[in-house]
Amino acid sequence: MNAQAQPAQKPVHPPFGSVLTDTMAVATYKDGKWSPYEVRRTGPIEMSPAAHVLHYSSTCFEGFKAYRWADGSVNVFRMGRHIERMLQSARALALAEPDARQLEEMIVTVIDRVRDQVPEAPGALYLRPILFGTTPNIGAAASPPGELMLIVLASPVWDYFAGGMKALKIYVETRATRCASHLGVVKTGGNYAAAMGPTLAAKKQYGVDQVLFCPGGEVQETGAANFLLIREGKILTRSLDTTFLHGVTRDSLLKMAPSLGYEVEERVFTVGEMLEWARDGEAALSGTAAVLAGVGTLVHEGREVKVGSGDVGPHTKKLRAALVAVQQGEARDPHHWLRRI
Ligand SMILES: Cc1ncc(COP(=O)(O)O)c(C=O)c1O
Repeated sequence: MNAQAQPAQKPVHPPFGSVLTDTMAVATYKDGKWSPYEVRRTGPIEMSPAAHVLHYSSTCFEGFKAYRWADGSVNVFRMGRHIERMLQSARALALAEPDARQLEEMIVTVIDRVRDQVPEAPGALYLRPILFGTTPNIGAAASPPGELMLIVLASPVWDYFAGGMKALKIYVETRATRCASHLGVVKTGGNYAAAMGPTLAAKKQYGVDQVLFCPGGEVQETGAANFLLIREGKILTRSLDTTFLHGVTRDSLLKMAPSLGYEVEERVFTVGEMLEWARDGEAALSGTAAVLAGVGTLVHEGREVKVGSGDVGPHTKKLRAALVAVQQGEARDPHHWLRRI
């Protein structure tokens, strides 16, 4: 066959999170203080098998992105808010708080060093700071670690919707909880471990993409994203409490909503209300990875319920496009969410 007659091949990119950049920043905490940070080649770290985190899950993390704009510059989105959430998580887990200024410097330094590895839009550089207890003591179940490590990793990520923006199928879980009710607000590994069992079971039984946790019939969030109901002129989402993660994407969409013609209502709502809304409204998941992903089907008590038309709805697409335009530097940034590195 003539080579020119072959259809253009789309590049196949590695899955989200499977590749790290070659540079990371590392700081340690000991004797009540943080060390200066070091910039290192990304690679294995050494710690005791008795390290506190390996036994008692003394850890928290963050996840956010820096974007390469059309002019070639690299711009990080709401870094300050993510640092604040990381400190909140550390406090909730009785871990020594990183110094916010130092953490910011670590993040900025990593982005700067790896700027050549930041993919073009719709790709991005995903930043992943992690904090964990390294104290070697397997008897310290009831005391926080006095030694910790803070690492900033970066990962080039490509288009989340490479296969097209397909509406998601979500299982409505009314019995199992995602995590302890006071820890939903904390971004800690244990929460993801707790959600794993119910999520795998629902995927196996119903072929769903995600599980929407609704303990006691109140809608909370999925394993890794917040949940929004959307319709003409209106967004409804759960009001902030300790049971779920206060997503920065959620907050950004809600702050943009009025100027896009949507009134925002934040309150507790039930599965019944959500099913009613699904008759002619839209539902979507918000988070750093996917921005805003449409839900096409809810699986409730073994029955499939279509959300609106069953496809990604026009309001979901409009809100998503508006936020992506800000992140990519194609629209004004009135809230000063982006910082050029
Ligand atoms: C449990 C959970 N909820 C919500 C979100 C969305 O948060 P954000 O918009 O800050 O990425 C995430 C992703 O980080 C998450 O893991």
